[in-house]
Amino acid sequence: MSRPIATIFDAYGTLLNVHSAMERHAARLGPAWQALSQEWRVKQLEYSFVRSLAGPAHHRDFAQLTDDALAFVAARHGIEDARLLADLRAAYRSLNAYPEVPATLAALRKSGIACAILSNGSPPMLAEGVAAAGLTDVLDDVLSVESVGVFKPDRRVYQLAVDRFGASSPAQLAFVSSNAWDAFGAAGFGFRVFWINRVRQPEEYGLRARVTELADLAALPVHLGA
Ligand code: LAC
Repeated sequence: MSRPIATIFDAYGTLLNVHSAMERHAARLGPAWQALSQEWRVKQLEYSFVRSLAGPAHHRDFAQLTDDALAFVAARHGIEDARLLADLRAAYRSLNAYPEVPATLAALRKSGIACAILSNGSPPMLAEGVAAAGLTDVLDDVLSVESVGVFKPDRRVYQLAVDRFGASSPAQLAFVSSNAWDAFGAAGFGFRVFWINRVRQPEEYGLRARVTELADLAALPVHLGA
């Protein structure tokens, strides 16, 4: 396989650990914090899918959906501590990167393969998140769905990466996501896809026939000929 022009990364869940926000405040949330964090993530994504299907008039940016999802989870579980909720919202703006992320991206770039984020995140939340996670220097660009006003897996979002890197076909780009639905959409679009299955989820969408499954990002440079 030839080397890609660039490697395009999903941000939330792939480079940034979305559960690190609640983990930081686990003592205040109690033993159910992991289930709460999972529910927060699932609701956030549900809102992104529903608003995209409902049409442009219903679009809200991902920062808003993240806050809306937290408000729903808090209401459902009777979490009324306003300071805790404010701290969780703030923590989501400064999530931890997974440990292997900086060195892996640095290795790809050193070998001449550009690295960029393509995320549902809004530009301000991505800028804050990338800086807080120490990833500014290992990224060539950060692309947000906000320039097309619809969420992944809409094809207009994936097209942003093709346009940014002047690829003559999506197959010239590698796409990396831990979200099975995103890996599915990206493979259908034509990218060369790596599904990062950190928590050993069962296969969905017939992915294994179409994408390369990895446990984390560490082996990416080998796979990409870096
Ligand atoms: C993103 C979400 C889907 O970063 O995780 O695009």
